[in-house]
Amino acid sequence: MAKAFTGLNAPTWPDSFPAIDKAKAAVGAQLYDKYCSGCHLPALTPDIVHGKAPDSEFWKNFGPIRWRGRDGQEKQTKESVLNVKIIKQSHIGTDPAQGDVLRNRTVDTAGSELARAVHSSPGLGLDIDVCQRKADNTLDTIQLSDHAMQLYALALGAVVQSSIDEWLRSTGTVHAEIEGDRPNCLAAGFGYKARPLNGVWATAPFLHNGSVPTIYDLLSPVAERPKVLLLGEPSFDPVRVGIVARTAAPKGRTYDSKGYFILDTSRPANRNTGHEFSNDKHEGVLGPALSPEERNAIIEFLKSI
Ligand code: HEC
Repeated sequence: MAKAFTGLNAPTWPDSFPAIDKAKAAVGAQLYDKYCSGCHLPALTPDIVHGKAPDSEFWKNFGPIRWRGRDGQEKQTKESVLNVKIIKQSHIGTDPAQGDVLRNRTVDTAGSELARAVHSSPGLGLDIDVCQRKADNTLDTIQLSDHAMQLYALALGAVVQSSIDEWLRSTGTVHAEIEGDRPNCLAAGFGYKARPLNGVWATAPFLHNGSVPTIYDLLSPVAERPKVLLLGEPSFDPVRVGIVARTAAPKGRTYDSKGYFILDTSRPANRNTGHEFSNDKHEGVLGPALSPEERNAIIEFLKSI
């Protein structure tokens, strides 16, 4: 039987928008293979979804998750998933703040000293196995308990896992049915995920911090990207593909006159840097500058997946 994709499908480009130019999309598909698939993986095209491409490169990154349990035994899921890549922040060059929080922040899950002294907070009572992705990309299980300076990422993972375990227990649900037996793993290191780009046309604004309004802007050098954007504004630009960029909003204000949030990319955590195609050589440059025709061809392809 031909392999077919059984996961969730992305929404298709609506008929009410300008029609997809198939010839342009075919050029875009080649550019995607050349400049994007190394990180975002070979695209999940409609042919693959419908079982017409069983030999596609796409399937090479599809397989079970393998990890080492607390007992030292190798385990693996029954279901297959897409093994996506995480790209180091120093390479991708996008805003570091979000990754930094997970890497550096600590929380006191043991209960503060003052709270302990008055016996009002005994701590969270964490005592749980969590799965952690190590630097060599293998998955291991570590035991986590309360600590006055617990790493925020691990504590968050543990609290999420404890809540899930409690819900599974109280509802009598079998883990395998609901999560395909997948471990809840945390990645070590400092990077951002290169997600599959299916349906990405519908997910503006772009990057993990929503700092780039359209795909055209993302494929343009950073100097050409809008410095300010309005969040919550519902207009969609089907040509540049994303939210409609507005001219600079008044300085020092958080909301514009209609009440839309003003995202100022000059502020730390909002920066729109990195993931850049440019002929300059600096951190965050992933490849050579793309001409406007090349950017449009790639966009045409992304509309089709
Ligand atoms: C070096 C690896 C790498 C290459 C090459 C690369 N990307 Fe990315 N891409 C990423 C990572 C990592 C992110 C997430 C970055 C972030 O959110 O800070 C991303 C994010 C994106 C996003 C935004 C996704 C979202 O949900 O907001 C789009 C769109 C995108 N890439 C398109 C492309 C296209 C098109 C190409 C080829 C022209 C390309 N990328 C090449 C790694 C890469």
